[in-house]
Amino acid sequence: MSAIDYEFASPQSLREPDEMPRLGDLENMRPLPRISVHAFCESEALQQLMERCGGDRRMAKVSLRITSGGIAAAANMFAAAPTPNLIVLETRANPAILLAELAPLAAVCDPSTKVVIIGYHNDIALYRDLIRNGISEYIVQPVSMQDILSAMAAIFIDPDAEPLGRSIAFIGAKGGVGASTIAHNCAFGISNLFSTETILADLDLPYGTANIDFDQDPAQGIAEAVFAPERLDEVFLDRLLTKCSEHLSLLAAPSMLDRAYDFEASAFQPVLDVLQRSAPVSVLDVPHAWSEWTRSVLAAVDEVVICAVPDLANLRNAKNMLDALRRLRPNDKAPHLILNQVGMPKRPEIAPSEFCEPLEADPIAIIPFDINLFGNAANSGRMISEMDAKSPVAETFSQVAHIVTGRVAVKKAKKGGLLGLLKRR
Ligand SMILES: Nc1ncnc2c1ncn2[C@@H]1O[C@H](COP(=O)(O)OP(=O)(O)O)[C@@H](O)[C@H]1O
Ligand SMILES: [Mg+2]
Repeated sequence: MSAIDYEFASPQSLREPDEMPRLGDLENMRPLPRISVHAFCESEALQQLMERCGGDRRMAKVSLRITSGGIAAAANMFAAAPTPNLIVLETRANPAILLAELAPLAAVCDPSTKVVIIGYHNDIALYRDLIRNGISEYIVQPVSMQDILSAMAAIFIDPDAEPLGRSIAFIGAKGGVGASTIAHNCAFGISNLFSTETILADLDLPYGTANIDFDQDPAQGIAEAVFAPERLDEVFLDRLLTKCSEHLSLLAAPSMLDRAYDFEASAFQPVLDVLQRSAPVSVLDVPHAWSEWTRSVLAAVDEVVICAVPDLANLRNAKNMLDALRRLRPNDKAPHLILNQVGMPKRPEIAPSEFCEPLEADPIAIIPFDINLFGNAANSGRMISEMDAKSPVAETFSQVAHIVTGRVAVKKAKKGGLLGLLKRR
């Protein structure tokens, strides 16, 4: 069952036989991936229809919220909360003023959020106007369950729809610099701050620590996925995932030495593909190595984050990695840089400004060395924001979560006032 969060008195369930969708229409639809959907319903009829959609097996992985209200209620809510992957919005607004009414919502909406509007005016000019302004679909009442599910399928399942998932790889400039710790905290932050379904994949098969960091001991995980690419689909992946928190799942490393782990260059491509189809965000914890397969992974992901400690070996390695990755990804923005364990007592260090200058990169975060905070978190299987949500380090991880997902802080979005400009498609 999908998680339905009712914000109004739940009406009695209705299943009039003549209202049932024609089965043939839905039968061939693939299940929707792990997206978050928030429906704002002005009519009782749509509320009930959305509930019925929520009970459909194709929605089992969708996290659905249903709220009574229209555009104003949505704008109000998302002024203070992150927007989901999809907003379904019912409105009776007149075509002449609909776009203007949407402006306050557009101003607080993340660019990655899709919007489907359920309206009451069968007006082709309005339809074109809305699509031009980034609305994914406009459907005229009375709508059916089939209409809603088809609209979602067109956005999130169709082969020609833009890919759902964004992948972010973290790698260290040396071993032990905290790349895994940072990857795990950021994955947790992304899932928690944005209520976005996130999968953390631990690519360090022999030594991975994501299982320890989240206090989990799963029998299956990434090894089953990478060694059985022919079986790997969304259903198989589901069985390999371990739930770490409300919106975070882990594809854990075996962390065992009963075999050797040698991979072909493209070994992880099927895993990346299925992750991308399954969840809006995947975080990859890549071990500190430079082999055919790590290079292919780093070449294939949407974002790369290099983590480094401010010493000479890290500087040289970070420089080489940045140069190599810029060549490998000539049409992408450069990898991000994070400086970690800065200010370790008694350690001679290169000042952050001197470290970054030859790299021609501004760090997106500088994280202090804090043995108490990190040591206690590691030993108790918890994340930094769970240990001390108000600590500056927790705030830094929150900023990194925003940057690597392309999210704008809600406050900034409001100030920016993107009035009238809906950038989505
Ligand atoms: N900022 C920090 N301050 C103190 N200890 C840290 C910090 N960042 C990471 N650590 C610790 O450093 C060790 C190595 O971290 P890990 O994430 O496994 O590194 P990597 O993945 O780069 O090999 C862990 O014990 C971790 O708790
Ligand atoms: Mg590691």
